[in-house]
Amino acid sequence: MAFRLSASTMFLLALGLLALGSARAARLNALKDVSQPQGGVPAHKQIAARLEALRARPDEYSEAALDDLVPHLPGWGSVDDFNLFAGYVTVDEEAGRALFYVLAEAVDEPPAAAGRAGREGAGAATKPLLLWLNGGPGCSSLGGGFMTELGPFYPQPGGRSLEANPHAWNAFASVLWIESPAFVGFSYSNSSADAIVGDARTAADSRQFLLGFLERFPRFRDTPFYISGESYAGHYVPNLAADIVDGNKAAAATGEPRINLQGFLVGNPWTDAAIDNLGAVDYWWSHALVSDQTAQGIRANCNFTRIGPLDPHPAHANAETRDELCDDFCNKAFDELGNINIYEIYADMCTEPRGLRRQVEALSWALGGGEQEQHQQEEGGARRRLANAAALSATAATAALRNGGSAASNMHTAIHIAGTSKPLSYRAARRRWQQQQQQQAAEAAVSAGPLGASGDGADPGYDPCVDDEAEAYLNLPEVQAALHANQTVKLPWRWTDCTRSIVYSREDLLASMLPTYQKLLTAGLRMLVFSGDVDGIVPVVGTRRWVASLRLKEKSPWRPWTAGGQVGGYVVEYAQGLTFATVRGAGHMVPYVQPARAAKLARSFLEGKPL
Ligand SMILES: *[C@@H]1O[C@H](CO)[C@@H](O)[C@H](O)[C@H]1NC(C)=O
Ligand SMILES: *[C@@H]1O[C@H](CO)[C@@H](O)[C@H](O)[C@H]1NC(C)=O
Ligand SMILES: *[C@@H]1O[C@H](CO)[C@@H](O)[C@H](O)[C@H]1NC(C)=O
Repeated sequence: MAFRLSASTMFLLALGLLALGSARAARLNALKDVSQPQGGVPAHKQIAARLEALRARPDEYSEAALDDLVPHLPGWGSVDDFNLFAGYVTVDEEAGRALFYVLAEAVDEPPAAAGRAGREGAGAATKPLLLWLNGGPGCSSLGGGFMTELGPFYPQPGGRSLEANPHAWNAFASVLWIESPAFVGFSYSNSSADAIVGDARTAADSRQFLLGFLERFPRFRDTPFYISGESYAGHYVPNLAADIVDGNKAAAATGEPRINLQGFLVGNPWTDAAIDNLGAVDYWWSHALVSDQTAQGIRANCNFTRIGPLDPHPAHANAETRDELCDDFCNKAFDELGNINIYEIYADMCTEPRGLRRQVEALSWALGGGEQEQHQQEEGGARRRLANAAALSATAATAALRNGGSAASNMHTAIHIAGTSKPLSYRAARRRWQQQQQQQAAEAAVSAGPLGASGDGADPGYDPCVDDEAEAYLNLPEVQAALHANQTVKLPWRWTDCTRSIVYSREDLLASMLPTYQKLLTAGLRMLVFSGDVDGIVPVVGTRRWVASLRLKEKSPWRPWTAGGQVGGYVVEYAQGLTFATVRGAGHMVPYVQPARAAKLARSFLEGKPL
């Protein structure tokens, strides 16, 4: 699925703790090292001037905020067009739990160095503050949202340098990404028990983070605030909104400040297991991916309130019960779907070994996790099985590739498990791939590989083959130093896009968010539910059905919306503040696959303009 259902081996997080003196001293040293001259003025002087300008606005930036300024990024240089900040906010003192964030202020906010002279009354020119959350659970909003979807930069091939994202959302909002819950990315806790987590603590920690963030950046206290995200953030976003609404109601009594929440937007959001799972099966059928019999068999036998069609299903020699029949029909569906990219059904899969490797890794992890559910007590045993499963599936998949036969069923299964690590790829590498494709076509030497991925007829904008460049970049020690990540507390794990070291509540994964929507519909929030219409994981069919189930009054009927002179998708507005919009030709990660359409959608929503 778009998230992990199986519990993982809980890694015992023996935090190697190394105090490096005061964080500030370390940062000052880091700043001194940035000494290459730019425009005749030594960089450290420019940075000092910038800090000075920010320090002159203590009502907007606390000292702690100044500590978080990122004036310079390796592989990019000095960050001039906007203020970039990154650091940790403690969300639980006692447990020692801290969430890592990156903030890219809106570009045409007055640059720090220019000071505030000439600025009209505070707030008038201020763009909204937007939080973005990736899902998983366990996937990082840095690797996803910040580096590959809507942030100001994209990593370039090799993961050592950055290029500008022309569709960055900080053109129209100050954008905040947090790695949530603890143990995702650079976020951590000093209490290993915190690796067991569910929706309630994830939301409570995010709210606590926001309170700490607003204290650090008082300039955003009255700024209109919105939450956004995709996939499993279909749970994170409305849950956090509900927590904030409750917190604001209780603010007078608790003495906590109010958070100026105005609304939220969620893309391809996992919302209601029964509706979304059935929606997936119906989508596969209506998009000619599975047979009539298999779709009907799944519909007739599966109880989708407790399992997804893309979960691993055991095989049965003689299926008798409905649950067993459900398993068999789901397995049949995997075979029928073939080796397609379920996150974007018209994109190709990769035949390159490294792409395969990533899938096999993800597969072996999920297999190990599945094993582990039955043997939760024997951790060592589960780990051995995980290693065995990895070795077995790697052998099988490699053999399938080498033999040039049709993809082995391992490969089919790997599709859904790719959900544990997103099939990410990035624009720069995508261009490289397109060039390769064109070159190959020109040489008339395109030979369909064993899995048939020649690129013919594929979505031209999607590169399924690249390595995770964000991962390479974020693991560079100089990048971590620049971002103030992993400095005073040294984390004993590598940064990965999706962590395997949290155990997320299965009950929460399967819980319906519709009661939360019912509550939020009376809270006066503005809500945008959007859906990339070529996603086969949390497809538009299920999303339309649960939106319809809310029985809202239609304010403005279904119509096309345009971007760049083309239909960008379709939109319906409802009276209670909710808008539903599709994004034409977008897969599961809408801002990655259709960046211009996604930016237009988000901008018009935040500006309160019709699409
Ligand atoms: C975790 O423990 C280390 C070492 O005691 C400490 O430096 C750090 O501040 C703690 N983290 C949090 C968030 O309290
Ligand atoms: C489906 O599963 C849920 C959760 O286990 C259960 O409560 C429900 O009764 C089941 N529905 C059917 C039709 O079996
Ligand atoms: C933190 O730093 C240590 C030591 O440099 C490194 O081994 C580890 O991979 C880093 N962890 C993360 C999450 O970046």
